[in-house]
Amino acid sequence: MMAGRGGSAVAGGPALHIPVLGRPAVDFLNVHDGGIYIDGTFGAGGYTRAILAAADCEVIAIDRDQSAVSRGADLVEEAKGRLTLTEDRFSNLDAIAREAGYDLVDGVVLDLGVSSMQLDTAGRGFSFRLDGPLDMRMSGEGATAADIVNCAGERDLADIIFAFGEERHSRAVARAILKARANAPIETTRALADIVASVVRSRPGDIHPATRTFQALRIFVNDELGELVKALQAAERVLKDGGRLVVVSFHSLEDRIVKSFLADRGQSRGGSRHAPEIKRPPATFRALTKRPFAADDDEIVRNPRARSAKLRAAERIEAPARAGVPPDLFPHVPSLADALKGR
Ligand SMILES: C[S@@+](CC[C@H](N)C(=O)[O-])C[C@H]1O[C@@H](n2cnc3c(N)ncnc32)[C@H](O)[C@@H]1O
Repeated sequence: MMAGRGGSAVAGGPALHIPVLGRPAVDFLNVHDGGIYIDGTFGAGGYTRAILAAADCEVIAIDRDQSAVSRGADLVEEAKGRLTLTEDRFSNLDAIAREAGYDLVDGVVLDLGVSSMQLDTAGRGFSFRLDGPLDMRMSGEGATAADIVNCAGERDLADIIFAFGEERHSRAVARAILKARANAPIETTRALADIVASVVRSRPGDIHPATRTFQALRIFVNDELGELVKALQAAERVLKDGGRLVVVSFHSLEDRIVKSFLADRGQSRGGSRHAPEIKRPPATFRALTKRPFAADDDEIVRNPRARSAKLRAAERIEAPARAGVPPDLFPHVPSLADALKGR
């Protein structure tokens, strides 16, 4: 699905999702007249709206969630041709820009994770606080969280929950899931949350015991970390010299990927004091944030979701984008196909 293109001002309007770190994200993008920007995570359009308001520029916005794209139709209309909104995955962002007529762009921004609309709609199955079908698919396509929970073998389940949820009790959770599903399939968020809570204890004030298991399944179902790695590489290919990359992440797994990508791309030399120097291709990015930029207290009070947000930004340097597939960051996590086989 795709809409819009052309030129002028955009009026404000209510957004269901309160943008996190929206102001610094747009500042780091260095938005200017005539610029072309990719918002890879349109959501409720908070970032896109701010970019369009900052200068007479164009935005190519992407979201894999069909409902986000439909909800954005009004903004496309308001933007009078300055906004193209596409239902797709952000790992394809360079191809999407080419399709919109641009080989190179001035900025790419990614505000990772799920939107409040996704989280707060029981029927999407993302939340352990709301009872709904155990779905968790952002795009509504492919295997659901229920498919994984009811098909995957105990070891695969434990590996997924450990790697993507950093859940210390992953083996106990996997065991409890297998025990429960031997009686009846696990089909709802409430059923899964109760199973996890039966083996993961929490003290008052702790996060909900199912938080980490739900995070793990959501990341796995949507291949969120694979998408992120591919999007960073696509951004490297599509950003012009001096173009900006801005990524807002919400947990350490995402932030670690962004941090190591920028560290790698910022180096033209390798080796260490103890090893011979390795000649590497020239650096492609210059980091603009030595440490991740975080929300201030005011924003956290207004929007508690901002508490865990970390923003990293970098500027593209003129040098060929690097080829090659990054090493498998999570070698113990099964592929989706293997998990569904129930090995
Ligand atoms: C945190 S919200 C973005 C909110 C947005 N910045 C705003 O101000 O309204 C993340 C959005 O990114 C989308 N998303 C997540 N992963 C994606 C991917 N790989 N490709 C495209 N969209 C994705 C989600 O569907 C969700 O709508």
